Amino acid sequence: MDTMQTIQTRNSNGKVKAEIVSRDVIEKLLNAAVQAPNHYKVRPWRFVVLTGDARNRLGEILAQSLKARFPQLNEDALDKERAKPLRSPVLIAVGVDKPRESKVLEIENICAAAAACENILLAAHDLGLAGKWRTGDAARDPLVKKFLGFVEDQHIISFLYIGYPEFDAEAAPRPGFEDRTVWME
Ligand SMILES: Cc1cc2nc3c(=O)[nH]c(=O)nc-3n(C[C@H](O)[C@H](O)[C@H](O)COP(=O)(O)O)c2cc1C
Repeated sequence: MDTMQTIQTRNSNGKVKAEIVSRDVIEKLLNAAVQAPNHYKVRPWRFVVLTGDARNRLGEILAQSLKARFPQLNEDALDKERAKPLRSPVLIAVGVDKPRESKVLEIENICAAAAACENILLAAHDLGLAGKWRTGDAARDPLVKKFLGFVEDQHIISFLYIGYPEFDAEAAPRPGFEDRTVWME
């Protein structure tokens, strides 16, 4: 697939098979991620790759943190939360470093890490994988951050759910750029 075709045909698809994604393929995605631009070459992205039983452990933390936020929830609701990381064989949590020097801005680090996320989704699509970018309250939860090795004031900007697609996602037409663009000459 050429680059323009990859960009044009990428779609979020959360319906994936349980089929294992090899370490080699996951490393290709991470290698694509780190080709993203970043200011001052700080490489602000942090990736936590969860496969196998690590997804159950994350699920347990998700359920605990949901219970902490909503103590009245019943076991069914907690089980649903627990099962979320099992929706795909690979999850990549992407965190962002806080700037350590005054010239480095947090917003720019977040931008760079977001570009890395998109590179992962595009590379996944190019390799015949499906991907879905998710966040939600869990991404901001202190328990979840601790489990993934992030500090409390560090942002988690995505949980990228990756796997081989159950079916090819129907390409939903996206609105164009025209109403979001001003031309200045
Ligand atoms: C920062 C960010 C957070 C997102 N969080 C969620 C989420 O929690 N749940 C979800 O269903 N979609 C989430 N999405 C959106 C989808 O992943 C997807 O991009 C959107 O539905 C558009 O579909 P498309 O990627 O096929 O164009 C998020 C996207 C971004 C950029």
